[in-house]
Amino acid sequence: MNAIEVTGLTKRFGQKLVVNNVSLKVKSGEIVGFLGPNGSGKTTSIRMMCGLLKPDNGHGQVLGYDLIKDRLRIKSQVGYMTQKFSFYEDLTIEENLSFVARLYNLAPIKKHTTETLEKLGLLSRRKQLAGELSGGWKQRLALAACTMHKPKLLLLDEPTAGVDPKARRDFWEEIHRLAADGMTVLVSTHYMDEAERCHRITYISYGNLLADGSLHDVIASAGLHTYTLTGPDLEGFIPALQADDGVQQIAPFGNALHVTGTDPQALKRALKPLEQHNDIRIEQAETNLEDVFIKFMSDSTDNMQ
Ligand SMILES: Nc1ncnc2c1ncn2[C@@H]1O[C@H](COP(=O)(O)OP(=O)(O)O)[C@@H](O)[C@H]1O
Ligand SMILES: [Mg+2]
Repeated sequence: MNAIEVTGLTKRFGQKLVVNNVSLKVKSGEIVGFLGPNGSGKTTSIRMMCGLLKPDNGHGQVLGYDLIKDRLRIKSQVGYMTQKFSFYEDLTIEENLSFVARLYNLAPIKKHTTETLEKLGLLSRRKQLAGELSGGWKQRLALAACTMHKPKLLLLDEPTAGVDPKARRDFWEEIHRLAADGMTVLVSTHYMDEAERCHRITYISYGNLLADGSLHDVIASAGLHTYTLTGPDLEGFIPALQADDGVQQIAPFGNALHVTGTDPQALKRALKPLEQHNDIRIEQAETNLEDVFIKFMSDSTDNMQ
């Protein structure tokens, strides 16, 4: 069964079309990454899918419930972690969890909060103020709070923004554990390494869905060919490469330059003049997800102009 199956989701705020005819299917137990630049409609789409916001157009079902008619039921059965989710910093960890338990009508409150605290390993620190927790612990507490009512679907909106790499890794291990237990997860993120941890990714740009599939599918569908250049003073070659029609984009990765294009012959021709420089290495490379996203972003800024 699909945990999410929506067709033609559309939302306007005033005159502005924010989500344009977006269709999405997420299978039960799947972890789907939701990617795209800021202001592309990720949060708005998520809010429509968790029953908080009524779409102007579109239909479908979430957890088997009708997206329009059963919004209340959807809202109570999904776990939703809002962007910049935060706790009441001047309440204790336990008080925060009790508050959430009450929101979800969980009874008895004490039992649910104690279980959650035990699972987190925070039982002995339950009287500590939430504001005193480190970023990583806050994140863990947030995830525990939005899964307290045992939802089958988790919608996470940039859950790891500003969290350090170690805490992000722990967070993703927990996401995979939850998915292995049958939870479905849709997670928006800006981090490439997180996108690579998803079973499937969806890319939205200024309201339009541009790509949907496995990491491999999304990279392949972009139809990019990539070379890496390494050597001294590469910057000097950038203007000529940029001016060449065979080159679509140039992106620095550490000491190397990634040069990509859609026409392999034209790209080779563009790189030909560099071959006479013995200190420059030109190697054909695998296109990575970041190359693809840079292409999506530059294509859609062109469309906006
Ligand atoms: N309640 C609202 N009223 C008016 N405009 C909004 C509202 N919510 C979002 N927007 C606008 O919709 C666009 C998409 O926003 P959002 O869904 O938050 O994108 P993302 O999460 O991808 O950054 C942005 O231009 C934003 O300013
Ligand atoms: Mg957002």
